[in-house]
Amino acid sequence: MEEHRKRQRSLRRRAQWTFFRQWLRNPLAVAAISPSSPQLARRMIAELPTGATRVIELGGGTGVFTEALLAHGIEPRDLLVIELNEELHQHLKARFPYAHIACSDARELHAASEATGYCVDGPADAVISGLGLLSMSRVTQQAIVSAAFACLNPHGRLIQFTYGPSCPVSREVLNALGLEARRAKMAWWNVPPATVYVITRRSHP
Ligand SMILES: C[S@@+](CC[C@H](N)C(=O)[O-])C[C@H]1O[C@@H](n2cnc3c(N)ncnc32)[C@H](O)[C@@H]1O
Repeated sequence: MEEHRKRQRSLRRRAQWTFFRQWLRNPLAVAAISPSSPQLARRMIAELPTGATRVIELGGGTGVFTEALLAHGIEPRDLLVIELNEELHQHLKARFPYAHIACSDARELHAASEATGYCVDGPADAVISGLGLLSMSRVTQQAIVSAAFACLNPHGRLIQFTYGPSCPVSREVLNALGLEARRAKMAWWNVPPATVYVITRRSHP
């Protein structure tokens, strides 16, 4: 047991170091200096629709949300994780060998879900996003949010966190796509503190 704990601690430290190195290389794309906290992961998972079984994660990083989703009971075959950074993608593949893990831009979500075979079993109930949407242009935001909703069932939702004071998806993008946003809980113990937003189609609150 003590051996297992030591190994987990060492894996976590290595993951944090890998993440920090990727942030040094490309701070805008990685968008956070360290991985999200377990508290933020719990806040994101709490917003999954009741009975959700199929989930897509955007910007998996070192796998904080991936681990929480699997612990919540999402089956690896029902989980697709998208990560753009090659080193973090390799890390995720080694850590979660049974989930669908794709090295891809979130804008190409549909192609990634086809290439991995994820879409064969139908649309997802939720997309959980760790992407730094706030620092992206409106055009990129719209492409990513639109790609997410194209892979969701009609009642599906996008769960997104932000370090900012308001919804990270701009009002223009929400209006253009017929979406609305609800502010959920804050994770005060995250560094920096983060707020969770839930985005749904207007006709399905
Ligand atoms: C703020 S980090 C969050 C990582 C992890 N989910 C967490 O909460 O600790 C954002 C992650 O999104 C990835 N990323 C950035 N732009 C992306 C894109 N266009 N498509 C897919 N992944 C992207 C980055 O490489 C980084 O791992």
